[in-house]
Amino acid sequence: MNESHAKKECVVTGVAGFVGSHLAERLLAMGHTVVGVDNFFSGRLHNIASFREHPNFSFCRADVREQNLLDRLKRAHPGLKYCFHLAAIVSVPYSMDYPDRTMEINYQATVRLLGEADRLGFTAFIFAGSAAEYGDDQRTPLLEGYATERTRHLSPYGRSKFLASKQVESSLRGASLRFFNIYGPRQDPGSQYSGVISRFTDAAAKGRPLTILGDGQQTRDFVYVADVVDAYILAAGLKGKNGAMPRGIYNIGTGKSTTILELAEAIKRACDNNSGLKFLPERPGDIRHSLAAVDKFRDTAGWEPRVDLPDGLRHTLNFEST
Ligand SMILES: NC(=O)c1ccc[n+]([C@@H]2O[C@H](COP(=O)([O-])OP(=O)(O)OC[C@H]3O[C@@H](n4cnc5c(N)ncnc54)[C@H](O)[C@@H]3O)[C@@H](O)[C@H]2O)c1
Repeated sequence: MNESHAKKECVVTGVAGFVGSHLAERLLAMGHTVVGVDNFFSGRLHNIASFREHPNFSFCRADVREQNLLDRLKRAHPGLKYCFHLAAIVSVPYSMDYPDRTMEINYQATVRLLGEADRLGFTAFIFAGSAAEYGDDQRTPLLEGYATERTRHLSPYGRSKFLASKQVESSLRGASLRFFNIYGPRQDPGSQYSGVISRFTDAAAKGRPLTILGDGQQTRDFVYVADVVDAYILAAGLKGKNGAMPRGIYNIGTGKSTTILELAEAIKRACDNNSGLKFLPERPGDIRHSLAAVDKFRDTAGWEPRVDLPDGLRHTLNFEST
């Protein structure tokens, strides 16, 4: 059997979150074993409800700042070889209020987990990076090399992700996936970070006006969560060219830019929402344009996003209404 098709044992931190729950679900569907870690800081129990009782899933309520967390997990699950590290402070405003805690969780805990994974002989350590690592860089599209020590990060969130990604890049078994704006089912519309799509779909479905911060001409690169999960699977070498594992830092976006106004209109149409738009002042610190250069991961791993925005919105809205 091709090595990449053998069943693997994986840790997913942040499993009760939006992306972590989708990743765990896919790994289980592929026949792999998942040990999910979360402390429910922003995650929800109902996100893991669909696979909580799966025979190949175990849950460990823990904080990723715990010393020797991977040692503890490996004692109970000696076959663990893959670490998908998604747990993080994801709220930019929270990171401004609590910069030290953000650094501890997003950066220091990542360095520690990476060291443990190295010492324990893990095969892969895949980190959730972020477009926020590019700070106020307005070049489009953003190439991976643009984020450097000289980048002006707009928040402790962006800075912590940048420092962690660089550390992961310098390791033997690490890859950092720099996500642009992820959207899809289970994204929490109540979270400050949650992204405009979940806030818009929530308001539209309730028949309320959609609130736009600024003039709506800001652009973002929206990537559907199933495509993000595909990227994870390729980055870990669990599929693709002989299970080869890309190493380093890779942007994960679509390479397509959408204005916030276009997005609002598309969601209003899809929900038959006639409540209009409400404009409020732009949030200080928000960047105007953000667009991924996507060639590096495509050329290295053969990844292509498969779900376009209209389809992704349809899936998201259908899910929310069930
Ligand atoms: N959603 C996006 O658009 C996006 C974009 C760029 C990067 N990312 C990154 O992807 C990852 C997943 O994001 P998400 O959107 O699923 O967010 P999320 O808030 O839904 O998930 C994060 C999870 O981490 C958990 N967590 C937080 N602190 C923890 C700690 N100390 N110990 C254990 N668990 C902890 C939370 O409870 C939550 O379940 C994050 O690292 C985030 O920075 C997300």
